[in-house]
Amino acid sequence: MEQADIIYLARMLRRRSGLLLGQPKTHAIESRLAPVMRRFGFKDVDALIRELRHGRDALARAVTEAMTTNESSFFRDRAAFERFRDAVLPALLMQRAATRRLRIWSAACAAGQEPYSIAMILHDRKLLAEGWTIDLIATDLNSEMIARAELGVYSHFEVQRGLPARSLAAHFNQAGGVWRINESLRRMVTFRQFNLLDSFGWLDDIDVVFCRNVLMYFDPKTKAHVLDKIGEVLAPDGYLLLGPVETSQGLSNDFAPTDATCGVHVKAGRALPRVAMG
Ligand SMILES: C[S@@+](CC[C@H](N)C(=O)[O-])C[C@H]1O[C@@H](n2cnc3c(N)ncnc32)[C@H](O)[C@@H]1O
Repeated sequence: MEQADIIYLARMLRRRSGLLLGQPKTHAIESRLAPVMRRFGFKDVDALIRELRHGRDALARAVTEAMTTNESSFFRDRAAFERFRDAVLPALLMQRAATRRLRIWSAACAAGQEPYSIAMILHDRKLLAEGWTIDLIATDLNSEMIARAELGVYSHFEVQRGLPARSLAAHFNQAGGVWRINESLRRMVTFRQFNLLDSFGWLDDIDVVFCRNVLMYFDPKTKAHVLDKIGEVLAPDGYLLLGPVETSQGLSNDFAPTDATCGVHVKAGRALPRVAMG
């Protein structure tokens, strides 16, 4: 690949998704783009980039999706999910006792491990049985990830990463060497393809936003922009959960971290509910 093509690709990727390409090796880019080359019938990556420069939107979209990193696992960074289960959720249940309605958004859900981890916690807490209405929305830029997440089928390797044996037995069925999430949990989650750079107009009044391990791929300006928009759709007494290496500090005045390690943020200037402080 020519240096000029790498620069073109990096600029396109940043414009369309906020993702920074960094300094990847040519073969790393080529292996990410190999499925797109096959799908669109290009003999090599140079031909693909040539066509990309002609502005074919479907191709640009496929290339952008192929360049995303979709690494995830159930209950990733376990302490953060424990904090959600043991501190954020109990506080929220008190805050929403009058409406008995929760709106939770997993904003970069990859193949669904994050929203299904949330669904398992809500299910184990018996909230639906107790008459709560749960809106659990899960979105990702990558349409293949959304399709996978909607299927709710995982390999043995995927369920072995982070999922306690008890949760596996309680919430999955094994068939033909793969594990399928129980239908009741699958139906708890509404999946939708969504780019965090697009308008948040369809989202409102969210109680908890999980935006984990995605801002870290963006430049500071894009991080600040996305945090601003999350601030607009998060309820005034809502919670934002970032990944362990992500922070709102220096990027947004809208949020204040509640702890140093678990990524739980509240709106700035708000008194922290005691129970949510753990
Ligand atoms: C590393 S995964 C993190 C998944 C999950 N949140 C976790 O913590 O395990 C990052 C996800 O962000 C998605 N992503 C990247 N850029 C995005 C954007 N602009 N809008 C929405 N999702 C994006 C990728 O497709 C990928 O699935």
